[in-house]
Amino acid sequence: MCGIIGINSNKSVSASIINSLKKLEYRGYDSAGIATLSSGQINEVKSEGRVDNLEKNSLVQNMEGTIGIGHVRWATHGSPNSLNAHPHSSQNVSVVHNGIIENSTLLKKFLVGKGHKFKSQTDTEVIVHLITEHLKTDDIVNSIKKTLKSLHGSFALGIIFKDQPDLIVGARRGSPLAVGYGPNENYLGSDSYALKSMTNKITYLNDGEFCVIKKDHVEFFSDDGVKINKKVLELSSQEEEYDKGDYKHFMAKEIEEQPLTLKNGIKEYIDNSNNDINIYNFPWKISEISSITLIGCGTAYHSCLMAKYWFEELTSLDVNVDIASEFRYRKNRFKRDSLYIFVSQSGETADTYAALDICKKNGMKTCAVVNVIESSIARDSEFVLPIHCGTEIGVASTKAFLGQILILYILSLKLALLRKDLKKDVFTQKLNDLKKLPKLVDQTLSIDNKIQTISNTFNEAKGSMFLGRGFSYPIALEGALKLKELSYIHAEGYPAGEMKHGPLALIEEGMPVVVLAPRDNYYKKTISNMQEVIARGAKVLLVTNKSKDEIVSENIWETLEVETTNADLLPFLLTIPLQKLAYYSALKKGFDIDKPRNLAKSVTVE
Ligand code: AGP
Repeated sequence: MCGIIGINSNKSVSASIINSLKKLEYRGYDSAGIATLSSGQINEVKSEGRVDNLEKNSLVQNMEGTIGIGHVRWATHGSPNSLNAHPHSSQNVSVVHNGIIENSTLLKKFLVGKGHKFKSQTDTEVIVHLITEHLKTDDIVNSIKKTLKSLHGSFALGIIFKDQPDLIVGARRGSPLAVGYGPNENYLGSDSYALKSMTNKITYLNDGEFCVIKKDHVEFFSDDGVKINKKVLELSSQEEEYDKGDYKHFMAKEIEEQPLTLKNGIKEYIDNSNNDINIYNFPWKISEISSITLIGCGTAYHSCLMAKYWFEELTSLDVNVDIASEFRYRKNRFKRDSLYIFVSQSGETADTYAALDICKKNGMKTCAVVNVIESSIARDSEFVLPIHCGTEIGVASTKAFLGQILILYILSLKLALLRKDLKKDVFTQKLNDLKKLPKLVDQTLSIDNKIQTISNTFNEAKGSMFLGRGFSYPIALEGALKLKELSYIHAEGYPAGEMKHGPLALIEEGMPVVVLAPRDNYYKKTISNMQEVIARGAKVLLVTNKSKDEIVSENIWETLEVETTNADLLPFLLTIPLQKLAYYSALKKGFDIDKPRNLAKSVTVE
């Protein structure tokens, strides 16, 4: 997942390109680069690491040119160094690319045979030489059309040409790409977030389309080179100024913003006057839905798994969940009355988008639960349930996770009521409990000092386990993922009841094990599982909720108690200490908390 920017202007573009690249760094930060056209030449500067390194390069500071492209990279082919950084250029063409060219090896062999010299290990470079080859005999539009037709795989491209000093070409297949319109200048960007500081007038390219961007107008073409008209959308708001405030990291800020996230979601979907849930414009009759499949990746998949437990508990619907990258290649059986729900913070995750595309092609009902409402998954789903948690910058998802499970819980309550699986009085009680949740999360956030000390033990261990049953199992998975992606320590989320079927062999003296055992229907069973690991030397961090009942067990290393509420809502509270545990572990290790190694915020490649 990389970030692309292009600007065609009547003034120098290098500073604006660098500024946009900084906004795109959440998409990848292995390396960065810029290329501009000036005095009939392509000038290219690239650097390893963050955009700051590129900005400090003196060549960039004196970079001329009113046309340019820029790129931030998350490496798919070739190590993350300046040689493999984008743009990739020949004498006549310079290209930035997000995606994967699956037939690059074959194309490279053909192009080398034609005398082309390659400098990098990337798949992208074949695009540069293919266009250069076609330009020997074709005009721009035909060269682009023929090049795109020979590429297998996914791409979002930005291209400039030495001999065309007034245009930038953009092209899209499988990776998002947007055009922005400004005063005497126009833009190309991976998503609207990169363009929002310059414009809120946006056109999104669809798969197979390409465009020619001039400073005063933009032309769009279908994949066979025929001119097409495209809508210009006016986005909700201009650039949302987003900074860390007094926090050390965006992640710290986003953890503390969770009460507000929940308040926004409750305000958006709960009608206090009628004490009901409003899901406006729900496009289907309840009788048309007898099963639900939830699909996502990573933390979003954990949200799907959490929702499965709620849907099964509250409704009589059949409920399935699937990891998007597995779903998209499985021989799925599509039933007419199935609703497919795609959960994605960014709304751009390639695997989740591909799963959506398959379901649409099979005539399924599709609903997106997303944070970015202008995203591809939102735009291409029949129905969208926004989570309204504001921009989430930290690569490790926190407030978006709580926002996702909130909306999914609200949906499960509403469908349960409409299907008469839930009595109105029970529904009302649950709604009243839900309204108190933001305050309970706020109180639970104060669990801080103890966790800072506890995190040392996790840092010193070679690995840890996170155990839970029922509603706590998806939270165990999410807690383990947080620790992995932030402190680079192996951690495994596992069903507590499953340990005796193998993983108990992992337990050794002093191994830290988190046991999620709130006072719910699974409590006693989970406490027995906890004793099994304590008996084998584990240092158990028990996370439960406040209760007047004593915890009947000895040799528990540490106990954390979250606030108490109805069992449905305990997962929200159990998540908080696990987010903080991961945060403090990474803080102690001095790792980059907002941009962990090897990761990116939006995974737009498969
Ligand atoms: C979450 O902490 C991770 N950064 C990652 O698993 C993320 O949830 C996943 O890549 C899905 O992203 P999405 O929600 O934008 O689709």
